[in-house]
Amino acid sequence: MTAQPHEAGGADIAARIERRWAALSFAIVAALTALAAFAGIQQAAMPQAELETVDPTTLHIRGEFTEGNLGSALEPDGTVTVRAIGQQYSFTPQCILVPAETPVTFRATSADVVHGFLIDGTNLNAMLVPGYIATFTARFDAPGEHVMGCHEFCGVGHAGMWARVEVVTRQSFEDMAKGKKRLSCVE
Ligand code: CUA
Repeated sequence: MTAQPHEAGGADIAARIERRWAALSFAIVAALTALAAFAGIQQAAMPQAELETVDPTTLHIRGEFTEGNLGSALEPDGTVTVRAIGQQYSFTPQCILVPAETPVTFRATSADVVHGFLIDGTNLNAMLVPGYIATFTARFDAPGEHVMGCHEFCGVGHAGMWARVEVVTRQSFEDMAKGKKRLSCVE
């Protein structure tokens, strides 16, 4: 008889501790959600430290990413710049032509949603975020062909979003570049 109130008190304490733990775990979840939301929403926390922006709605009309300016350009200093865009559900150009043993700078962006830019057989992997220009420099050691797939889910056609990268010798690239401002291996 005398033990019962004591036991009830114990149960109360246990319930109180339980509630405190529940409140604490909710607080942790809320804090993590707030952090994730902050990181996602805050522009400064988005892609890379050096942000170059571009208006995705006018890509095809003006600026660096108009159709005639896409593809590979042989720069006066001998390096190559490749400009490409990703859109649901393809890349332009569909086949990127680059020379081997040459510094190649990629500049790419998206015209609609987030796409991935992954060149198979290399460590080149970027995200194309609408509004931002993804830039990275690469060097291909030998001629060959690489598949380039989109690896960010971008909609129903995601699995079919592929392009190719064709690496040719420096000499044949130079030959092909004669008299041409932009190159690609799309026929
Ligand atoms: Cu574009 Cu997946």
